[in-house]
Amino acid sequence: MVALTHIEAKIREFLKELESPLVLHLSAHLQQGKMLRSKLALSIAGESEECVRLCAILEMIQSASLLHDDVIDEATTRRSKPSINALFGDKNAIMLGDVLYSKAFSELTSFYEKYPTIPRIVANAVTTLAIGEMEDVELSCAFNAEEAKYLSMIEHKTAALIEATAYSAAFLAGKSAEEAQGFRLYGRNLGIAFQIIDDVLDIVSDSKTLGKPALSDFKEGKTTLPYLYLHSLLSAKEKERLENAFKKEIDAAEQAWILEQLKKSGAITKSVDVAKHLGKIGIEAIANQSCDKLIQIMREMIERDF
Ligand code: FPP
Ligand code: MG
Repeated sequence: MVALTHIEAKIREFLKELESPLVLHLSAHLQQGKMLRSKLALSIAGESEECVRLCAILEMIQSASLLHDDVIDEATTRRSKPSINALFGDKNAIMLGDVLYSKAFSELTSFYEKYPTIPRIVANAVTTLAIGEMEDVELSCAFNAEEAKYLSMIEHKTAALIEATAYSAAFLAGKSAEEAQGFRLYGRNLGIAFQIIDDVLDIVSDSKTLGKPALSDFKEGKTTLPYLYLHSLLSAKEKERLENAFKKEIDAAEQAWILEQLKKSGAITKSVDVAKHLGKIGIEAIANQSCDKLIQIMREMIERDF
C-alpha cells in the first residue's frame, strides 16, 4: 500500500514542524506497527490527501497511547525493540506521548470547517480510551472473574479509536449519517475482536513472534478473556491455584499447567469464537456497502498470528 508510506512521511512532516531536535531524536526510535487504523480508514475513504492526514493523526494518537501504556505497564519492549521508556526513561516517554497527542489534536482542527463531526468523534474517542486504560489499571488490582467488566474495558481501551477511525472515515467518504453508523458499528466490533485476538496471541504465540515476552498479560495482572473462561470451568481447588498465580512471576511448571488448562478446557477456542462472532456482527453492519476490503480486514485480523 503506497499510501502507508505517505502516512509515515506525513507524520515526519508534522514532527519536523515542531522544530525540536529532542522530539526528532526520541521519535526516531518509535516503531510503526501494523497501521490497522490507517488500513481501515484508507479502505473506507480512499487514498486522498485528507485521508492521509487523518491517518497520520490517528497513528500519532495511537503511538502516544502506547508510549503512556508502556510506562503504566512498565514494559521494556515494544514490537521486538526496547520501548522508549526503557531507552530514555519514563519522563521522556510520557512527554513524547504528550507531544504526539497534542500535535495530532492541533492538526485535527484542520477538519473542522469541512467535516465538523470528525474532530469531535476523534476527541471523544481519546477520552474514552484514556478512561479504558484507567479501567484496565483498576481491573488489574485483583483477579477479575466478570466477563462484562472485561469486555467493557477493552471496548473503551482498544475499540474506541478503531470505531472512531471507521466512523470518521465514513464522513470523509461522504456517507450519510445513517450509513456512517454502520461503519461505526463495524469499527467497534473489529476493535473488540482485535483485542480478544491479541489476548489469545499472548498465550498461544512465542515471544519471538510477539515481540514481547509470552504469557505476560496474566503476570501483569490482566485477567483476559481466556483466563476468565478458564476460571469459570475449573474446580474450586483449581480456581484457587489459578488465582494464586495471578500477577506473579511463576515457575515453568506452573506456567505449563496454566497453558495446558487453557488449551484443554476450551477457554482459548471459546475466546476465538467470541472474536469470530463479533467479526460477523461487524460485517453485517456494513453488508449493504459492498466493501470487500473491510471483510478482508476483519478476516485477516482474526486469522493473524502476531
Ligand atoms: C495497550 O493495551 C493500550 C491501549 C490500547 C490504550 C492505552 C491508552 C492510554 C495509555 C491513554 C492515552 C491517553 C492519551 C491522552 C494519548 P495493552 O497493554 O493491553 O497492550 P500491549 O500488550 O500492546 O501493551
Ligand atoms: Mg501494555
